[in-house]
Amino acid sequence: MENPSGQLQQELQFSVAERDALYKAIYSRRDVRGQFKPDPIPDPVMARILKAAHHAPSVGFMQPWNFMLIRSPAAKQQVHELFLEANREAREMFEAERKPLYSALKLEGILEAPVNLVVTCDRERAGPVVLGRTHDMAMDIYSSVCAVQNLWLAARSEGVGVGWVSIFDPQKLKQRLNLPAQVIPVAYLCVGYVKHFFTEPELQSVGWRDRLPLQDLVYFDYWGNSHPEQEQALLSELARPGR
Ligand SMILES: Cc1cc2nc3c(=O)[nH]c(=O)nc-3n(C[C@H](O)[C@H](O)[C@H](O)COP(=O)(O)O)c2cc1C
Repeated sequence: MENPSGQLQQELQFSVAERDALYKAIYSRRDVRGQFKPDPIPDPVMARILKAAHHAPSVGFMQPWNFMLIRSPAAKQQVHELFLEANREAREMFEAERKPLYSALKLEGILEAPVNLVVTCDRERAGPVVLGRTHDMAMDIYSSVCAVQNLWLAARSEGVGVGWVSIFDPQKLKQRLNLPAQVIPVAYLCVGYVKHFFTEPELQSVGWRDRLPLQDLVYFDYWGNSHPEQEQALLSELARPGR
């Protein structure tokens, strides 16, 4: 007879197909700005995506997030105005030769996406002293970011696109969204079914920036020690093209 805990462990193993499905979601996830379809997202699909977000790790199991769904065109319009204002300022921050390309980029899909979804962080969710956040108060914000990534990958597996818009004055966004003092906006997301997903980051396709070589980003034992002799096998695996 199978030991019950052994059986449970077996059920928790990933088959090769399940493992590959997870990697597929990771590698084919894209930031979506311009291909949104107006089709509504059925409630069971939206619920699965939000439940995935809610199962993210969080410091001290704080679960500091809330999820605000914005569907009203008027509310979207107000946020879009904040984006336009910040984006004009953003353009001026780049060197002259980058400005034309920056202006040509579409960096949000606020009005087209059927749902805008704000992921927040309540900095007081679990009281003033939180297990694991005792020495670095930013850990709650990182936890909300983990929820965003879960949400993004779950959405991708549902065929739903997500685009993160961060070009806002955070104070003005907070005010516009009526957030209480202790709550900060972490991610403003445009969410909806898409006509297609690009196969590579758009910023790469348009020549803004390339993916960095992973083997140069991995250090051993101390900062900057990137190519020790004894790690050559791992480093050549990292440098191998493909997944
Ligand atoms: C914290 C964060 C903020 C981002 N803000 C924006 C944004 O304001 N506008 C935008 O077009 N993309 C934004 N992105 C998307 C990135 O540009 C995108 O993830 C990156 O170019 C890689 O492309 P990929 O997500 O399709 O792989 C943001 C992504 C993250 C993680």
